[in-house]
Amino acid sequence: MRKQIVVANWKMNNSPTQSSQLCSLILSKMRPTDKEVIIAPSYLYLNSVVATTQNSIIKVAAQNCHQEISGAYTGEVSASMLADLGLDYVILGHSERRYYYGEDNSLLAKKVSSALSQGLKVIYCCGETLDQRISGAHLDRITKQLTEGLFHLPAKAMKNIVIGYEPIWAVGTGITATSAQAQEMHAHIRSALSDKYGADVAHDTSILYGGSCTPSNAKELFAQKDVDGGLIGGASLNADDFLAIVNA
Ligand code: 13P
Repeated sequence: MRKQIVVANWKMNNSPTQSSQLCSLILSKMRPTDKEVIIAPSYLYLNSVVATTQNSIIKVAAQNCHQEISGAYTGEVSASMLADLGLDYVILGHSERRYYYGEDNSLLAKKVSSALSQGLKVIYCCGETLDQRISGAHLDRITKQLTEGLFHLPAKAMKNIVIGYEPIWAVGTGITATSAQAQEMHAHIRSALSDKYGADVAHDTSILYGGSCTPSNAKELFAQKDVDGGLIGGASLNADDFLAIVNA
């Protein structure tokens, strides 16, 4: 049975103090939930978030990793380093990584394999631009991102994969996909999973929506049949807003 998951992607935000305060606040205000709640802070704050959330139901994710396990890659962080910190997840293929750092599907395929080889679970993001949506190319765009970045994996690896659908035109813009648009794409992703890996894998894989998700629209988005939770950016920087989304 697939899990419902809500991820706080803090991106490059928060000071050390704000980070630890926000994490403690989320922990102290969180009601018991059967959903998986994940916090993805900057690399610098991973240690402290791992320590604060130890013995809690909150899991911790990194926002990226390098594709190699070690070596002369100045400034980079490997999946094995992240696994050593006790992390559960790494986010890969976020549209900001694809756009600002030129990460393409073939590089992401390597990162995905590297992360899984170190025992991390992967939140693999995909999404289309507004132009691609307007021209009707959005479904094919997502299929390509899945095929080239993820579908090299064997079926048994898919239990460690969560898919994040983040329409680029909705990320950080205040514009949210309608629940119908989100459902259409999530159903499309599930059908691509089914074509590749069969109905059981498709049924058991969590597919999260991201893109200007807020306390006021989360309930309707999460009520869609194929939406299993959310990847939250801006609204995850406020404990009350984030928890309202978790409770939605
Ligand atoms: P916003 O919620 O700020 O649109 O960001 C979404 C996102 O990128 C989460 O990974």
